[in-house]
Amino acid sequence: MVDVAIRASSDWSSSGNNANTHGAFAAAHATDALLERSRDVVGRLLDADPNGVVFGANMTTMTFAFTRAVAHTLKPGDRVVGTRLDHDANVSPWRIACEDSGAEHVLAPFSPSNGRLDMDALAQLITPNTKWVAVTGASNLIGTMPDVKAVVALARSVGARVFVDAVHLVPHMPVSVRDIGCDVLATSPYKWYGPHAGVLCIEPDLLNSLPVAKVRPADDVGPRRFETGTPNLENIAAIEAAARHLLEEDMRNVARYERDVFAPLLNGLLAMPHVTVWGPPTLESRTPTVAFTVSGMSPDRVAESLAAKKIAVWAGSSYAVELVKHLGLEESGGVVRAGVVRYVTSDDVQRLLAAVAALDSVSLRRSGM
Ligand SMILES: Cc1ncc(COP(=O)(O)O)c(C=O)c1O
Repeated sequence: MVDVAIRASSDWSSSGNNANTHGAFAAAHATDALLERSRDVVGRLLDADPNGVVFGANMTTMTFAFTRAVAHTLKPGDRVVGTRLDHDANVSPWRIACEDSGAEHVLAPFSPSNGRLDMDALAQLITPNTKWVAVTGASNLIGTMPDVKAVVALARSVGARVFVDAVHLVPHMPVSVRDIGCDVLATSPYKWYGPHAGVLCIEPDLLNSLPVAKVRPADDVGPRRFETGTPNLENIAAIEAAARHLLEEDMRNVARYERDVFAPLLNGLLAMPHVTVWGPPTLESRTPTVAFTVSGMSPDRVAESLAAKKIAVWAGSSYAVELVKHLGLEESGGVVRAGVVRYVTSDDVQRLLAAVAALDSVSLRRSGM
C-alpha cells in the first residue's frame, strides 16, 4: 500500500468523523463528503460516471452480489457468455446465477499457443438470446488483454450487456470505462496500491434498476442501494488517496515504466531452453505478467526455490482455473507467475532471470541439487 493511502486511512480514523451517512450533524456531513469525493476521484481514475462508483469488500464478493441480482432477470433460454481466460471470480458467480435461473452458461476459448481470446468462437457463442457477456480486461495469469471494445460491439449487436473484470488491468494500464462502453467494470484497489476493497463501476441506469438485495431504508437510487450496510469509511479514505496517487503518477507513465522493466523478463525467459512461456510471446496487448514452467520441475518447487532467494512468485492457477485446464496444465500443477508492478526494478528482473537460469538440469547437477 502506498504511504499516502496508509496515512489517509489513519487520518480518517483519528478525524472524529466516524459517523454514518445522511445525518444532520458535522461528522455525518464529512462522511457524505468523503463518499462523494472518493466516487469522484475513482471516477476520474477510470473515466467512469461517479454516480455508478460502488464500494465494497472485494471484487469477488461484489460480483457475487451483482450476479445474484442479475439472476432475478434471467430465465431459461437466456445465455451468459464468459471466457476461459478469466479468473474464477468472473466465471463462478455467473455459473451459479445461471444454475439458479435456468439460463445457459458458456465459455469462449482462447488460443493455447498465443493466449489470445478466440474472437471468432466468441462471436459464434454470442447468440440473440445472450443477455450478458463477462470478459476479463486482462488475464491475471498470462497477461493477455482481450480487445474488450470489440467484445462490447459483439454483445451490443444482440442487445447483451457486458461485465469487464478489470482487476488485473487497472494497476497496469490507463482505463476508460466511457471508451470501453461496458455496463460494469470491476476493480480491486488493493491491486493498485490501495487498501483491501473492491469497486464496481455500474452504468447508473442499470444500477438503479437492478433488483439488488437491500434493506428497505437504504437509498433506492445511486451507489448506496448496492453498498449494503455501513461503508468501510477508513478504507474508502485510503482508496481515494491511492486513486489520487495514480492520477498524479499518470497511468501512461506507469504503463511505459512497467513495459520497459518487463521486456527483458519476457525475452529472457523466452530465450531459456529449459523454460516454456505460456501466453502471448510478445509485448503487444498484454500486462507485464508472465506465466512459465521449468522442464523437469513442478511450479511449486520452482516457487520454493525462488523464495529461498527472496524472490516472490506464485505457483498454480492463481484462480484462473479454466485457463490452466485449457492449457492442459491442471495435473502438472499449473504455472509459475511473475509480474512487474510500479515498484519492481530492472535489478529485480535480472535477479529473477539469474535464479531461473540456475534451474536448468546442468546447473542443478553441478550444484548437487
Ligand atoms: C483478474 C482478477 N479478477 C478477480 C480477482 C478477485 O479479486 P478480489 O481479490 O478483489 O476478490 C483477482 C484477484 O487476484 C484477479 O486477479
